[in-house]
Amino acid sequence: MQISDAWIRKVFTGRGDVTVEVELTVEDSVTGDVLVTRAAAPAGASRGAHEVLYFPEGGVDAALAAFEKLVAPEIVGLDVTEPYSTDGKLEEVDGTQRFEKIGGAVAIATSFAAAEAGAASLGVPLYSFIGGAYARRLPLPLGNVIGGGKHSRGLGPDIQEFLAMPLNPPDIYTAVYTNVEIHKRVLKYILKVDTSFTGGKNDEGAWTPRISSTTALKILREAAREVSGELGVEVGIGVDVAASSLWNGEKYVYKNEGVKRDPREQFEFIAKLIEEYDLVYVEDPFHEEDFQSFAELRDRFKDRLIVGDDLFVTNPERIKKGGKIGAATGVIIKPDQIGTLLRAHQAVSAAREFGMRVIVSHRSGDTEYKTLAHIAVGFGAEVIKTGIMGGERTAKLNELIRIGDYLGKWATITQIRIH
Ligand code: PGA
Ligand code: ZN
Repeated sequence: MQISDAWIRKVFTGRGDVTVEVELTVEDSVTGDVLVTRAAAPAGASRGAHEVLYFPEGGVDAALAAFEKLVAPEIVGLDVTEPYSTDGKLEEVDGTQRFEKIGGAVAIATSFAAAEAGAASLGVPLYSFIGGAYARRLPLPLGNVIGGGKHSRGLGPDIQEFLAMPLNPPDIYTAVYTNVEIHKRVLKYILKVDTSFTGGKNDEGAWTPRISSTTALKILREAAREVSGELGVEVGIGVDVAASSLWNGEKYVYKNEGVKRDPREQFEFIAKLIEEYDLVYVEDPFHEEDFQSFAELRDRFKDRLIVGDDLFVTNPERIKKGGKIGAATGVIIKPDQIGTLLRAHQAVSAAREFGMRVIVSHRSGDTEYKTLAHIAVGFGAEVIKTGIMGGERTAKLNELIRIGDYLGKWATITQIRIH
């Protein structure tokens, strides 16, 4: 099956950011069968400095022009059962590491659409096209319950995300339900401390009360305990500090708390949070160049998920650099950060080489596409970070439930043991 036509259009993320959607027509030259697949690029708000360039200079219209001029003519004729040939072609026509000519949004939407086309042309689900016949383990859903940082316009807690994750759910439905229940119950506790809270949520569907980071953690811990006891599922809580957003070059600025922490104080602050709130998951506790502090934290908390997002930006070289010094126990994989599924797969291999767990992740500006659920299963990720509430988040979670059904008795779900 070969690509016979390639189309691009402007569409929107759930946040209302303009992004690109790529549509591929694929034709079987022998039978004449035709199929059409589509995919869109998500968009981040707290982007890492080392990510690929989202749009080329000139913005979305320059991205469209680059697709039409450089990409479309070159990918027509390629065999979609070999999606890496499309990914390789994207590298070739762009020629820069950061996709400066065509932009990362065009690259990832094309890469996703080509993988969808490969799966559809073989009549298999995307997760098995990516991961093979034995890809049958479902990831644990990690979801954003309370939001702060940049995602809440700097008016909520200074830490960007307060997260929950079931650790030993019996199946994917119960796993998703656990997070949904925690998210709902947290409102009750928020209203006790912030009576004027209107129920506002951010782009990722997390509640956005004007409370401190420690109050957020106390509330989350309480709701998690309650749901854990009722459902008989162990629940872990965690944070995405997104520390590069706090870092001013010298100190970490906690605006709402009214505190500035130097790197040493930041280290002690994070270590204390982990101990006091028994955090299972800690993402980007230090800024994106501070590999050393990551390694020190990991050394102290080997059994926790110490995770790099802006630190690694799904870049195999940065992951290897971190792996060599033991900077993390987990790696965020956002395929759009690096531009193609091929490169994201190399990033996963790099993480595995150093025994790190894989967390496949959405962006704060995401779309209704379900692609990420399949990528998580296909890559064998232990965790999928894709929010809890909101259409573009539940699209992925509901798809995981469908994949679980489809796999039936062959489905297993990741179990994480901390204590
Ligand atoms: P972003 O942030 O999608 O807004 O860049 C999400 C994250 O930091 O994990
Ligand atoms: Zn992050």
